[in-house]
Formats: sequence, structure tokens, C-alpha cells
Amino acid sequence: MSVDVEWHDVVALAEFWEGELYEAQLGGDHVLLVHLPSALIKAYQGLCPHQEVLLADGEWNEDAGTLMCSGHSWEFDMRTGQGLNPSGCRLYEFPVRVEDERVLVGVPADGQRHYLRANESE
Ligand code: FES
Repeated sequence: MSVDVEWHDVVALAEFWEGELYEAQLGGDHVLLVHLPSALIKAYQGLCPHQEVLLADGEWNEDAGTLMCSGHSWEFDMRTGQGLNPSGCRLYEFPVRVEDERVLVGVPADGQRHYLRANESE
């Protein structure tokens, strides 16, 4: 059975430039958006799969598209959400769409928290 998605109007496209990160709290979910080259916008869980440190406080490498968590230096590919180091984890990804110059993020309306912990995501 498919779960309905609740769309949240998060930010104006004009205020979220390519190469930037943007944090949002959507219901019970902390979400981190990233604006990648070619107008690609992704949204992931905003807390590290390791010990829930805020990923937005990490070191963002815009050129490589990678983010290193400030907690213990785990690294993620923000184009895919995959863990790079270590590789056996990934970030939960939320659907994104752009409508009328606004960025919308979809959150499954299942009453759950959308967060993958490292040992649950392999
Ligand atoms: S909390 Fe992110 S690497 Fe440990």
C-alpha cells in the first residue's frame, strides 16, 4: 500500500542558490537540502546516520559534492546520499519538486520519523 506524501513549501528558489545548503524542520523531520549544479535539488535527513549530529554543521565541499560530518568525519556524496567513508550507510532521501519558483519537499504522511541510522541502512 502506498503512503501519501505531504508536500511542504520550504524556500523560494531565488533564496536558495546553487552550491548552497538549506536546513528545514518539517514536522518531526530535520531535513537538509542541497542545491547541486544543473538546478538539481536534493533533500536528505538532516542528522548524521552515525550519532545524529547536524549535517549542516559539517564541511561542505561544493566542487566535489561531498559533505563531511563535524561529529566524526563520516563523509557523504550529496548527489546520491550514499556514505563514502564509511560506505555502508546512506541518507534518507525526500522527494523534491519546484513549482512557481518555490522548492517543495515531500514527507511521507505515515507518522514516522524519516531517518536511517547507520546499522539500519545497509
Ligand atoms: S555523528 Fe556524524 S560522523 Fe559521528
